[in-house]
Amino acid sequence: MTLSRRDLLRLAAAVPAFSGLRRATVPGETTEPLPSRPASDDEASWERIKNEFVIDGLHLNTGTYGACPLPVMDATFQHMRAFERMIGQEGIDLPAFKTELEKFLGAWPGSVAILRNTTEAMNNVAAGLDLNPGDEVLSTTHEHIGGRCCWELLAKRRGIVYKTFAPPLDPANDGELVAAWQGAVTPRTKVLSISHVLFSTGVIQPVAELARWARSRGIITVIDGAHPPGMLANNLQAIDADYYATSTHKWLLAPKGTGLLIVRPDRIATTWPLIGSGDWAATDIRRFEDVGTSNGSLVVGMRAAVQFQNAIGREAIEARVRSLATRLYDALATIPRVRLYSPRRAALRSAMVSFRMDGTTGEKLQGYLGAARIRTRRIAEFDYDYLRLSTHMYVLPRDIERTVDLLRNAP
Ligand SMILES: Cc1ncc(COP(=O)(O)O)c(C=O)c1O
Repeated sequence: MTLSRRDLLRLAAAVPAFSGLRRATVPGETTEPLPSRPASDDEASWERIKNEFVIDGLHLNTGTYGACPLPVMDATFQHMRAFERMIGQEGIDLPAFKTELEKFLGAWPGSVAILRNTTEAMNNVAAGLDLNPGDEVLSTTHEHIGGRCCWELLAKRRGIVYKTFAPPLDPANDGELVAAWQGAVTPRTKVLSISHVLFSTGVIQPVAELARWARSRGIITVIDGAHPPGMLANNLQAIDADYYATSTHKWLLAPKGTGLLIVRPDRIATTWPLIGSGDWAATDIRRFEDVGTSNGSLVVGMRAAVQFQNAIGREAIEARVRSLATRLYDALATIPRVRLYSPRRAALRSAMVSFRMDGTTGEKLQGYLGAARIRTRRIAEFDYDYLRLSTHMYVLPRDIERTVDLLRNAP
């Protein structure tokens, strides 16, 4: 017998350790509660939070995937272990978790589908829209494969036209970005595929304004939101895009292989699911979620990740990670060989900073920092050759100082 995803979730055991931030006691581990809403310069609290992670070295690549904190790992492992007992399991309360997720994201009730990642969520949308040959999908020349290839596939297979334009890298304000998008739209544009935060430079795009403008012209907005949840305290209803895809294993620090698709309620019943399984004909959000048997332990871990961030505070996390990025940006700007590609204006900058250094390459720099056990991302795509550094809450000011000192002396 094959168990469906819903069967698995129903069967999954809810042992007390999953329900909150409590975790299995490990000798020597602190059981103090997490600091609540620490100020962005409350170093003692952020040091305490860093102790929740098992990172070896320095992790400056949350943009690829975040490090799970201990409560997330504990919840996941304990669930997996309980599940494998096979007998005496209870279901996790998926409706209650969905409500927590909707609150965390500011999403509409019943609009959140749990999937594996942004790539899958973007593919769900691309394959689920009724686009015709010649219809245009507009995007930028700074898209990650996870938000781009679904359209390239559709172009090759169905004759839609995937068009890109070069966005301003150092815009003066949101208006300049909005104008760049508007200037690239044609009468055949049916979809704007917008990265909320560009993976290459970390610039934050004005997605709410673009969604409003697009809707007034009958254009659909699909947001590749791989980065913001867990980094920026956005409200998805206020953004009001038609579709929002994300990976919770990045900044939200959930287990790897977890993501979400948020669909504006008026679009749910008319968007085709990517996978035909038991719920494909449902007219609610389940039509996207039923993908056959999947791993309920990861969903339990995702719930613990949401609770972990709620305990600290979403706004406090955003303020901290962005202030770290500003500290990093300002320090890098003092190195004469560094050329920064993230925006100068802090309001448009997220928690990722990208740069090049004269006289060396991204590959060499990555290897140099890697030898000091510092994990980074090289943006080799489209030959940009940037080095990108992510500043999540497990990065401390002294970590930034150490990294910048190393870069100052880079060969
Ligand atoms: C902007 C953007 N979109 C999509 C993805 C793909 O994410 P995933 O591999 O989790 O689907 C990434 C990954 O880094 C990304 O940066």
